[in-house]
Amino acid sequence: MKFNVITFGCQMNVHDSDWLIRAMESRGWEAVDESEAEVFIVNTCSVREKPEQKVYSVLGRLGRLCSRPGSFVAVGGCVAQQIGQGFFERFPFVRLVFGSDGIAKAPQALEELAEDHERKLIFNDFLSDYPEREQVDPSPYEDLVPPGIGTIPGQAFVNIMQGCDNFCTYCIVPYTRGRQKSRHPDHVIEECRGLVKSGVREITLLGQNVNSFGLDSGGTGVSFADLLYRISEIEGLERIRFTTSHPKDIAPEVIRAFGELPNLCPHLHLPMQAGADSVLKRMGRKYDSKRYLEIVSGLREACPEIALSTDIIVGFPGESDDDFEQTMDMVEKVRFESSFSFKYSDRPGVAAVKFQPKVSDDVAQKRLTRLQERQKHITRESLERLTGLETVVLLERPSRKQDGDIVHWRGKDSGGRVVNVPLPGDYEKNSPGGKLLRVLITEAKNHSLFGEKVGEPW
Ligand code: SAH
Ligand code: SF4
Ligand code: F3S
Repeated sequence: MKFNVITFGCQMNVHDSDWLIRAMESRGWEAVDESEAEVFIVNTCSVREKPEQKVYSVLGRLGRLCSRPGSFVAVGGCVAQQIGQGFFERFPFVRLVFGSDGIAKAPQALEELAEDHERKLIFNDFLSDYPEREQVDPSPYEDLVPPGIGTIPGQAFVNIMQGCDNFCTYCIVPYTRGRQKSRHPDHVIEECRGLVKSGVREITLLGQNVNSFGLDSGGTGVSFADLLYRISEIEGLERIRFTTSHPKDIAPEVIRAFGELPNLCPHLHLPMQAGADSVLKRMGRKYDSKRYLEIVSGLREACPEIALSTDIIVGFPGESDDDFEQTMDMVEKVRFESSFSFKYSDRPGVAAVKFQPKVSDDVAQKRLTRLQERQKHITRESLERLTGLETVVLLERPSRKQDGDIVHWRGKDSGGRVVNVPLPGDYEKNSPGGKLLRVLITEAKNHSLFGEKVGEPW
């Protein structure tokens, strides 16, 4: 069968889609563009209203492409978990619905539905343990870039847990991904070892709250810091990253690891959400601005060059002008290298739906624009400070920009910054994608750096 996967949402969804593509390819299915596909898989996100609405508009479009006999749509991910059976009622061409714990069963189900055109299947139950999935061949990481998915040579994601127990008052994730379930540390390490053996240089550990790894019924006494130290020992693993970290759970040992582990990248995404303590309290975040700043100074002490990024919500119910000024104040104090900021969006079933007064869209938009403008300048200034310095870049792919015989390659430095570097055209034949290259930074743009190669890729 020819199939196409459309993915919304976080890195966990991207990784799930990636796994599903490989699992279907190992069954002889072929990943193709949307125009050629017979089966469509939509992996959905429900974190704000917009991505949820997008799912319905995509389904409208796919419905028109589903006229061929045997053609159907599968809906997975967080909106699938939220709406469940409702998809069958609204969209007759949807024949498979699977939530986050159901994905392990999706490959088999897709095969069955391709045979039997009358059946519909739903896998929406949460399981009590981390649902291990079939191993897919890691070797295609070398060169495979399936349509719609940004698999990057030399880089891989590894799940260490599923779900979230925090119930931040604005957030739907605990309802769509279920309770926190840690994966067995030996399984995590085994998967990392296999990936490194197949040529992976950089691994990103994934979970909604990696800092509470092991602190649930799936725990074996191995903490997140223990796990990091063990993974760090894998020979040939050049870079480790992890996401996402909840500030309330970050252990002193994890902060220390940034100073001690040579292959732990000097980059941390540490969602702050808001600057005002009263707002943080009503968000249920369980830290205040003082504690957040202490963590930041601890991290900078352990690793002075650490690049910090964050998530910020503006317009949370009850957020006053003064509360918002405190968010702006924290942005000045921390000087995040980058931030993802969003207008608060009411989600079904979360506690904040009932919080009053709501902030008008107009006010929230003005706050968002001001925050993003300020961030743009701080980002630019932080990047400019790096010009004239040398860095090591993990090369990803050629960018579209060509310059005669020169091909511009894009990659990331260990801080996670995008670096563009021109390489002679013949490099493309013996693709340097997935290789490391020393680069001298020559210029900073708004969101990325430009540089010149120093030496050869390895
Ligand atoms: N587990 C991660 C976040 C996952 S959701 C963590 O705790 O940091 C990613 C981001 O979406 C959140 O950090 C938050 O900033 C934003 N977000 C979540 N729910 C939202 C809502 N209802 N409205 C606006 N933004 C939201
Ligand atoms: Fe959502 Fe909070 Fe869990 Fe993050 S920690 S997924 S923001 S409930
Ligand atoms: Fe979205 Fe679900 Fe991830 S709601 S952000 S896809 S956990």
